[in-house]
Amino acid sequence: MNIILFGPPGAGKGTQAEKLVSERGMVQLSTGDMLRAAIAAGTELGMKAKEIIDRGDLVSDDIMVGMINDRMSQDDCKAGVILDGFPRTVAQAEALDAMFAEKNITLAHVIEIKVDEQALFARIENRASETGGERSDDNADVLAKRLKVYHENTAPVLPYYEAKGLLKTVDGMQSIEDVSGDIAKILTS
Ligand code: AP5
Ligand code: MG
Repeated sequence: MNIILFGPPGAGKGTQAEKLVSERGMVQLSTGDMLRAAIAAGTELGMKAKEIIDRGDLVSDDIMVGMINDRMSQDDCKAGVILDGFPRTVAQAEALDAMFAEKNITLAHVIEIKVDEQALFARIENRASETGGERSDDNADVLAKRLKVYHENTAPVLPYYEAKGLLKTVDGMQSIEDVSGDIAKILTS
């Protein structure tokens, strides 16, 4: 089964994806993690991406679509993937459709994790202190920019999937366990 976990920065996409990986053996494709791995490895792409991530902007659609296409071509993705942080623009969603059609695979659900904006600031602040500021974009200023970008570029992906009948929404203000429970219900529906 292929699913998308969708939501603003700090909504809990990564948290829920990791639970699905450990509990169901699904494969998580986090474009944010992939970019951070490229930064850590000091690749040319990583160096370009770092600047963009640090200001809270989006990396170009071409780069992101290429990254997901390469990863989706690997054998472990054949049983199904959780897309975490992709697609983030309507152009990425259209490219994903084309990619899935070409690989003859289907998208089962797009699960939106809905969280109040104030709570996002608290969560990111919390994560910054828990990880000792591991993520350079974990601060209020960059989060405000990421949220602006989310509203302008990423939220328009929701009606795109709603029109296809794929969109499901879960209340992300609940505990991590309760959010997981709601996602589990969608996956078995
Ligand atoms: P990315 O790494 O995807 O970051 P993001 O979308 O901003 O989201 P986060 O990872 O911050 O949040 P999350 O939803 O995973 O929440 P988490 O589970 O960690 O992208 C980073 C950057 O890379 C982008 O800004 C962009 O520049 C670039 N990029 C990536 N993909 C791209 C693409 N496709 N196109 C273009 N550019 C791209 O949870 C957050 C915190 O809250 C944690 O501490 C967690 O423990 C806590 N928490 C989780 N759930 C709950 C809960 N229910 N209750 C209380 N606390 C909770
Ligand atoms: Mg994440």
